[in-house]
Amino acid sequence: GLLKLPVPALQQTLDMYLRCMRHLVSEEQFRRTKDITEKFGAPGGLGELLQEKLLERKETKDNWVYDYWLEDMYLNNRLALPVNSSPVMVFPNQNFRAQSDTLRFAAHLISGVLEYKYLLDGHALPVDYARGQLAGTPLCMEQYYRLFTSYRLPGSKTDTLVAQESSVMPEPEHVIVACKNQFFVLDVVINFRRLSEKDLYTQLQKIKRMADSEEEQLPPIGLLTSDGRTEWAEARSILVKDSTNRDSLDMIERSVCVVCLDESCGIEPSATNRAMMMLHGGGADRSGGNRWYDKPLQFVVGADGCCGVVCEHSPFEGIVLVQCTEYVLKYMRNSPSKLVRADSVSELPAPRRLRWKCSPKIQELLTASADKLQRQINKQYLLVRNLDMNVHKFNSYGKDFIKKQKMSPDAYIQVALQFAFYKCHRRPVPTYESASIRRFHQGRVDNIRSSTAEALVFVKSMTDKNSSVTDAEKMEKLWHAIRAQTHYTILAITGMAIDNHLLGLREIAKELNLEKPEIFTDETYIISNQFILSTSQVPTTVEMFCCYGPVVPNGYGVCYNPQSDHIIFSVSSFHDSPGTSSDMFVKAIVACLREMQDLCRISNTQVKPHTSTESMEDVSQTVKNGGKT
Ligand code: COA
Repeated sequence: GLLKLPVPALQQTLDMYLRCMRHLVSEEQFRRTKDITEKFGAPGGLGELLQEKLLERKETKDNWVYDYWLEDMYLNNRLALPVNSSPVMVFPNQNFRAQSDTLRFAAHLISGVLEYKYLLDGHALPVDYARGQLAGTPLCMEQYYRLFTSYRLPGSKTDTLVAQESSVMPEPEHVIVACKNQFFVLDVVINFRRLSEKDLYTQLQKIKRMADSEEEQLPPIGLLTSDGRTEWAEARSILVKDSTNRDSLDMIERSVCVVCLDESCGIEPSATNRAMMMLHGGGADRSGGNRWYDKPLQFVVGADGCCGVVCEHSPFEGIVLVQCTEYVLKYMRNSPSKLVRADSVSELPAPRRLRWKCSPKIQELLTASADKLQRQINKQYLLVRNLDMNVHKFNSYGKDFIKKQKMSPDAYIQVALQFAFYKCHRRPVPTYESASIRRFHQGRVDNIRSSTAEALVFVKSMTDKNSSVTDAEKMEKLWHAIRAQTHYTILAITGMAIDNHLLGLREIAKELNLEKPEIFTDETYIISNQFILSTSQVPTTVEMFCCYGPVVPNGYGVCYNPQSDHIIFSVSSFHDSPGTSSDMFVKAIVACLREMQDLCRISNTQVKPHTSTESMEDVSQTVKNGGKT
């Protein structure tokens, strides 16, 4: 019963595009872009033709943007998955005293995963409803059904998201366990009976023993999946020539998920270090080869208590990952481990080690993949990555204080991020904030362009030491910035943002074999897609946090988790980018949040607050007016 994603009006998108980019490019460049955009949108022009075709596409497809978006966002991207694409969830550090503790935890976790999977198999998962802005609408649940049934197949030009949706295919019933770079098939249903936690533990013990056996060690094939997508596709095409390899690949592709039993990583278990271990496994000589990055869910259980989930992003969003992970963690907390100390008595067949036949060419490619993963690493504890990570819990206040100001917490945090970036780098940059469009059938996300002109005016007033702007005026500017951000958010979650629409116009032109329209070759469009700030709200209700890498070499990835009295920020950047520093950015976020709080406190009595209802009604009216304010 969900609505189809609408196609926004052409002029609305073009006007918004110009408004979003005006302050992000030079005046001269903007004048050029304005001419190009007006020509594109002129009556009877190319824009109208493409818009018409897009409206036709909307009639024939469940979701007109889904395929275009999936390919553009993920499948066409040739970069390696770790750090560049795959987000991770980091669990609280576990206190394992012995190997048996680690295996018990893993068995308990697999039991929780299977509980969740069987809930999904029985279509017993309750429908999600939107919270926050425009709360109460039911949300599309399709992403959940891809958690355990998808696989991202590498291709030479583009990857394919394979889904085992066919009723002819049996549901996957085995988990792949990675241990010491070896891969094992752990059947979770034997003789039509689901393995108990005790049985799972027994099987994991067997796997551990098999992995420890020196003579049987096979090359770390998982490393290949950490390479660039084209390189992995090339290696895979060589691997599949051998039937043993084909069988092994097939078992991994058709598994429920991967469980990675990692060796101890030997570094201080701070939140930042654990986040880095989840993001890339610590390189080829730690757990970098103990992964299979194509599989959507890899649960990591480290011998030293460093645990979490690595997620291949193309089948679903972080919010769905959080729901699944929270279920598993709550299951583990609320249903005490059913293990008794003795091993399982049932006679279970030993798990199977996956075999690989490696030609000299594969050996050569393995070395190259290991080298590339390694290059994300330089000195500090001998191994630290190019990835510059800082996870910070901001304890001074959280959502409650912001709500008391009658402001949207998300909008407030986004304005704070704009403020922090400006404080560090003295310029505004194109910013991405993911906005869920699950209110629509097959909805994934669109982009809230948080670098608004109003935010820039506010941050300039806060950073210009010589300015004579009063606190009351600064507060007024903060309100404008918050209202602009809230306005854009509501447009985005109601399917009226510009990024998906522009992508649709670009792709439909390609489908019609037209020359790429000038609006999409223009410098401004290229700049508009360089998201130097890539941000996302991923809230959790249990103690864990999400993080991911930057999406451009000179950018920041900022994932935040707002709670009632604190906010967790996971900030990433790259060491080899001369301008960026995650520590500097985190310090700036903290300073800006404090300055904004001071401003709110000083001004509380002086400025009349705008209520959230006001802003929502304003925006609803704007949506009805086809985007005209
Ligand atoms: N005054 C007081 N309270 C307000 C308010 C105001 N003016 N505006 C909002 N609030 C309240 C909301 O009612 C909500 O209350 P709750 O905590 O009881 O639910 C809370 O503040 C949070 O609302 P807000 O901060 O406005 O954000 P949101 O929850 O609507 O989230 C997005 C906004 C854009 C993050 C969300 O719509 C979204 O799309 N999330 C998905 C992001 C995503 O996909 N991430 C993963 C990518 S991989």
